[in-house]
Amino acid sequence: MNENERKEELEAMKLNEHIFLIGFMGCGKSTNARYLSNMTGAQQMEMDQQIVEEQGMAITEIFSRFGEQYFRDLETELIRSMRGKEPMVVSCGGGAVLREENVELMKESGKIVLLTAAPEAIYDRVKHSTDRPILNGNMNVEYIAELMEKRRPKYEAAADIVISTDMKNVREICEEILERVHRFRGKK
Ligand code: S3P
Repeated sequence: MNENERKEELEAMKLNEHIFLIGFMGCGKSTNARYLSNMTGAQQMEMDQQIVEEQGMAITEIFSRFGEQYFRDLETELIRSMRGKEPMVVSCGGGAVLREENVELMKESGKIVLLTAAPEAIYDRVKHSTDRPILNGNMNVEYIAELMEKRRPKYEAAADIVISTDMKNVREICEEILERVHRFRGKK
């Protein structure tokens, strides 16, 4: 591909609003956000990382010192601050769409893409992690499957697009996301 073709390709891939990747912990939001950011040239935003940097504290510490509601308020504040910014690929915390207000804010400024994965695949990815307070002390497939099922209606109601990640590699997932986001754009 020559310089001009690459430029044209990037132009065609350019986002005109944010993409919010949502889904259960360990479903691949961060990995796919990074890849999408490379594909589109849009900046990547890691909600958890942003909160950690702004608070100067790990997520587990925010939960233990101030409680979950405080963390959820920080999420809402962060999502609100994204309105009007250059289109970004946002990797959301797994609980970010549990609050209706957050979903409304996201819909005002982008498309919500739900990534799904089997509980076994999730467990495999998160089993060694200790920085997810929601799973600490509950690190097993049964608990993950149960919590996932409990959250499913909210995830599905929030999503504009649902993508199953099982048996797909990151390139396939991201191409599918962009293809469907652009199809949406065509409908406008
Ligand atoms: C949470 C998911 C985490 C993080 C926090 C709470 C949740 O993000 O925001 O530990 O309630 O599902 P990841 O989905 O990036 O692990």
